[in-house]
Amino acid sequence: MRLRQIADPLVRGRPTAGEYDRPQNRGGGLGPRVFARAPVWCMAMADRLVVTGVTGHLGARVARRAAAAGWSVVGTCFRAASSTAVPSERLDIRDRATVHELLRRVRPDVVVHTAAGRDDWRVMADGAAHVAVATVALGIRLVHVSSDAVFSGRDIDYDESALPDPIYPYGAAKAAAETAVAAIDPAAAIVRTSLIVGDGGGQHEILTRDLIAGRVQGALFTDLIRKPVHVDDLSDALLELAATDHRGVLNVAGADPISRYDLGVLVAQREGLDPVRIPAATIADSGTRMAADVRLSTRRAVSLLRTRLRGVHDFIGGPHAPHR
Ligand SMILES: NC(=O)c1ccc[n+]([C@@H]2O[C@H](COP(=O)([O-])OP(=O)(O)OC[C@H]3O[C@@H](n4cnc5c(N)ncnc54)[C@H](OP(=O)(O)O)[C@@H]3O)[C@@H](O)[C@H]2O)c1
Repeated sequence: MRLRQIADPLVRGRPTAGEYDRPQNRGGGLGPRVFARAPVWCMAMADRLVVTGVTGHLGARVARRAAAAGWSVVGTCFRAASSTAVPSERLDIRDRATVHELLRRVRPDVVVHTAAGRDDWRVMADGAAHVAVATVALGIRLVHVSSDAVFSGRDIDYDESALPDPIYPYGAAKAAAETAVAAIDPAAAIVRTSLIVGDGGGQHEILTRDLIAGRVQGALFTDLIRKPVHVDDLSDALLELAATDHRGVLNVAGADPISRYDLGVLVAQREGLDPVRIPAATIADSGTRMAADVRLSTRRAVSLLRTRLRGVHDFIGGPHAPHR
């Protein structure tokens, strides 16, 4: 659903983001009630947002951009100390009771759930379920971040109707998280995204620099194709969705397919590093179990969202382009 102004002053149904925090709208259950509505963007300016994983690349950016846009933001961190200016709380999303207690106490209008643990099923799958159990019980809007890793690459192009067919543990945990979130909180938005890049701080950009500097062993795959998204575009799309009642899966990725190796070349050129120093490999040669070509169709997001989802060639403009 497009971020929109709602003209009718009284509307029956489940409240959208922002309505729960109003005293007249509080009180158990999600049954039909009458809610006084203000324009969505006015509500967003005063709304309270929890961002899980605020020490992560995406979470930090979501929190920063939300605070700049007028949201009242609380972040959650796990091991690392938060470097964002927003207040943060320690949270282990594997602990169901603690997740509920924090959200009950902070009482946000929306949770943007970015926290994840790369190889930890309990963080990604159980953790997402714990967040959804709490949001649905407390009447909080949930925007859950998923991944193109839920796909095998057998079909190459994937729209929102595609069912997960993961082929490695990270993708399987993200797929399990999607299923749990959709079952527990059907009103939640589930955002499938791709490689997150754009400001130099993403794991793919860091890996490229480390490979060039010889700090790590490895290679970038020439046959791994994705549609990278700029971290700012993704953050803005998540915040836009936070202020709507869009339910279910939405693909939010960049416009351009590119190989992981070619992405590394663009990053190196942007940073004035020598791309020739990037080791190249193929998935087949490496013996790794990875999906080769996964392209999220963003037709729906482009028609629903005001946020422009740039292609990687748009936002990494070649040699010595400044960090964004
Ligand atoms: N990176 C990508 O290219 C990409 C692509 C597609 C989808 N995604 C999805 O996008 C989201 C954000 O990715 P990212 O790369 O920004 O993540 P990230 O930088 O790895 O950050 C992960 C965050 O999760 C937190 N965390 C880890 N274990 C936790 C636990 N047990 N309880 C609570 N928090 C915990 C971390 O906290 P500490 O730092 O304090 O440990 C950190 O803040 C994830 O859901 C990921 O699956 C990422």
